[in-house]
Amino acid sequence: MSHVPIRVSTLRGDQPIEFDAYVKINDKHILFLRRGDSFEGARLSRLKEKKLKKMFILQDDEHNYRKYLERNIENAFDPKSGKPIETRTEIVQGATQARAEDVLENADNVDVYNDAKAGASKFVEFLNRENQALHQILTMENLDQNIAQHGVTVSSLAITLASRLGLKDSKQNQLLSLGALLHDYEHFHQPLNIARPLDQFTPEELELYKQHPINGSRRLQDKKHFDQSVLKIIAQHEEFIDGKGFPQGLPENKLDILSIIVASANKLDRLLSFEKVPRSEIPKQLMMRYTGCHPLEHLQILSEIIKG
Ligand SMILES: [Fe+2]
Ligand SMILES: [Fe+2]
Repeated sequence: MSHVPIRVSTLRGDQPIEFDAYVKINDKHILFLRRGDSFEGARLSRLKEKKLKKMFILQDDEHNYRKYLERNIENAFDPKSGKPIETRTEIVQGATQARAEDVLENADNVDVYNDAKAGASKFVEFLNRENQALHQILTMENLDQNIAQHGVTVSSLAITLASRLGLKDSKQNQLLSLGALLHDYEHFHQPLNIARPLDQFTPEELELYKQHPINGSRRLQDKKHFDQSVLKIIAQHEEFIDGKGFPQGLPENKLDILSIIVASANKLDRLLSFEKVPRSEIPKQLMMRYTGCHPLEHLQILSEIIKG
């Protein structure tokens, strides 16, 4: 009987699964969770510790897996589902991460991109409706320095920042959310260990790192289904408003407002997830290292967010 891969990020919450779930070890499929069990608490942590991105189900169970996903998403978006906000946020976070992984792996696929784009709008609505969701997302540790999880965190920070800045246009918010989700596209394809402070990079590594925004957008420029705003965010998310960022050193008046927001949001999660700066230190570090690089109002809002 043949097995098909499923994304671990889609397995969240207390809903019992209607399929057996396998892990692959040395080319063998080992039963990890049985029909009737669920992916909450200790089981989810055990799975996260394994840093697995894919699990497997039997091909015959694909229909049951789809049903499980649909029900999970329905519950997560429904405030009246009776599920705690922590569970609902975990499901939405996981589903958003799965869509990001899909685009990172299959950028050529128009349907995959459009799915992620539609999901980006729902993600904006969810975050703006559920006040505790951002806090919950920020407590999910990025154990394997996963670029898609980083994308979800940056996206949630960017959406919240935009909302506090009064950015109301739903189209702009959708593109902001999607661009933030995919901003580090290049890191998915260029295996540079980015999860450490930049002063630990060798000169060669730093040179390569400084090209990641432009290399990412170049890799995607022939894909006509990508929105220009998304490509711009990918190309500009490491620029500073004083013109001293990279790769182009563009000043504020040459930068798209959405790129400026993602750049600020990205800085917070770089400190949190990749440089492992303690939360209590982050407001100080943001101000000390990045005053002048990002709008002061952004740094102030992000500091308030991380203080909780
Ligand atoms: Fe980046
Ligand atoms: Fe990033």
